[in-house]
Amino acid sequence: MSIEIDILSGVAAWPMVKPLLESVWPAGRETAPQRTGPETAHPTLRVLVESDGELVSHVGITIRIVSWNGRKCQIGGIGGLVTRADNRRQGYGSIALRAAERTLRDHEAIDCGLLFCDDQQAPFFQARGWQRYDGEITAEQRGGKAPYRDLTPLQIDLRRKIRGGTLDLCGLPW
Ligand SMILES: CC(C)(COP(=O)(O)OP(=O)(O)OC[C@H]1O[C@@H](n2cnc3c(N)ncnc32)[C@H](O)[C@@H]1OP(=O)(O)O)[C@@H](O)C(=O)NCCC(=O)NCCS
Repeated sequence: MSIEIDILSGVAAWPMVKPLLESVWPAGRETAPQRTGPETAHPTLRVLVESDGELVSHVGITIRIVSWNGRKCQIGGIGGLVTRADNRRQGYGSIALRAAERTLRDHEAIDCGLLFCDDQQAPFFQARGWQRYDGEITAEQRGGKAPYRDLTPLQIDLRRKIRGGTLDLCGLPW
């Protein structure tokens, strides 16, 4: 079995990952505009994990300048982690997440990693070093800027410890 990890531009890789993402978050579903939404919502980069030439796992990386307690900082947003349903529990999701974290660490100007997940998925990330972000988050949403509380925010320390306080995502959530 050969495993290959590619890190590609978020827009360019979209056609390759669209079927996988839409198998979990069908296009147009009301609850997750950021997952399969318009071009502006594409992540900066995408991690693609292939096993024997087949795409098995994906995660997106959105690099964004946000406002934290009124100060600018650069966040590495992780989103859209998906493993093909018939390839789960074989370590591919962990490989994708680790590759995304390494990409953020290698990019020396990123202050912190941040992701959003539902409560059932949080233990997966917490077992891999992510911690709950303990503060208020605002983001662009359909009706304009508003508190974003749909999902659980988890963060991982990079250059700084951004673990709480007021965070304005300065755009859509990822
Ligand atoms: C969440 C998700 C991405 C995990 O992907 P995955 O490829 O199954 O992840 P892994 O195989 O690395 O880990 C999953 C579990 O399998 C276990 N596992 C890993 N390798 C294994 C193996 N060879 N044999 C048995 N179990 C294994 C891991 O320990 C982990 O268990 P844990 O959560 O108790 O630690 C996948 O379930 C998914 O696509 N879900 C739908 C989309 C989603 O909800 N995404 C998250 C929100 S952003």
